[in-house]
Amino acid sequence: MRKIGYQIGVGCADISKKEKEYVKDVLEHERLSYGPYTKKFEEEFARAHGCRYAIFLNSGTSALRIAVAALKEIEGWKDGDEVLCPAVTFVASSNVIIMNGLKPVFVDVDPRTYNIDPRKIEEEITKKTRAIMAVNLFGQPADMDPILKIAKKHKLKIIEDSCETMFVKYKGRPAGSFGDISCFSTYVAHLLVTGVGGFSCTSNPKYAEVMKSLANHGRDGIYLHIDDDKNLNKQGLFQVVSRRFHFIRLGYSFRATEMEAALGIGQMERKDQILGARKKNAAYLLKKLKPLAQYLQLPWHPGRVEHSFMMFPIVVKRGVGIKKQDLVMYLEEHNVETRDMLPLLSQPVYKKLFGDIENQYPVAKWVNGNGFYIGCHQKLTKKEMDYMVAVFEDFFKKRV
Ligand SMILES: Cc1ncc(COP(=O)(O)O)c(C=O)c1O
Repeated sequence: MRKIGYQIGVGCADISKKEKEYVKDVLEHERLSYGPYTKKFEEEFARAHGCRYAIFLNSGTSALRIAVAALKEIEGWKDGDEVLCPAVTFVASSNVIIMNGLKPVFVDVDPRTYNIDPRKIEEEITKKTRAIMAVNLFGQPADMDPILKIAKKHKLKIIEDSCETMFVKYKGRPAGSFGDISCFSTYVAHLLVTGVGGFSCTSNPKYAEVMKSLANHGRDGIYLHIDDDKNLNKQGLFQVVSRRFHFIRLGYSFRATEMEAALGIGQMERKDQILGARKKNAAYLLKKLKPLAQYLQLPWHPGRVEHSFMMFPIVVKRGVGIKKQDLVMYLEEHNVETRDMLPLLSQPVYKKLFGDIENQYPVAKWVNGNGFYIGCHQKLTKKEMDYMVAVFEDFFKKRV
């Protein structure tokens, strides 16, 4: 088969004329820190995800880091307390638990959705468990009904890591509206792309207040943005001036700029088009790859759970005599980019921290050894998808 002359990536650069104009507008007004674009982006993002507050930050990891830190501070968690975390996820979900002095306790994942398996959560709960990190992987919400039930029964908080999932509903309710705090990423190759960026969302005013402070060096909430000392009466101005350089907790510098928010606003305006194209592309790939379903487990989602298809995950089935590595290499050699399906426990750093524990999580182990994803982003053409499918077909023709 004839090899395509460029790489078909798992993500794409997709910056519209309007987005360029918005960024230019930011530069012309010379307002780079928190301003009208960030404010609007936060308001619209919060509304779209059923939350009262959205805080725009410089990454999804920063969002998760301050989400856990705020819960630890407000709820009085102690060092060494435990947070349940899926055994398959991007390292950041679990890293932030460790970096906050807490202990991630892993839970195996569902073999069809690859999200945390609610049937396996309760067996991991101890006296020290404080929260569940529910991760919405590859564009698909975790099974939130049983997770909410377990959290309520055991008085656990929920952090929803929705870095890979936006603008979709789980049984009629927006993904990202279930967590006490929910976090999102707008990093390259995600659904909305602002270069770097992320959100912490919540409907709890206390959590929002502490997270804003944590993202701003631990500052007193009276002065977080450069407009906070404007248009005040004498008494108000006195209050701000006397407290605006007060730092009341240890914090971080996690703010994003108006330029990222400008890109984000532009992308929000065409989110339906972006998601619509992704869903259509995923449906096309599913249909075309279906004849290979005896070898490959293709994406699946239950009826009332929408999928935003950040990626198109595939796992080589057991006992079919195909090695993932051979298939992945064939795709890569033919310019179809792939990524591992977010192995966590097999990472060198996790082996160093926790030892060889992968065997305790058989589904995660199967996914780690046999799973990978390809792109289904909005800029893929039919010709490119036909080519991707042809590469798969060609591989299987030669091997089986
Ligand atoms: C599940 C998950 N959590 C967290 C993150 C971290 O987001 P960021 O790269 O914006 O820090 C990612 C990013 O890829 C992710 O996929």
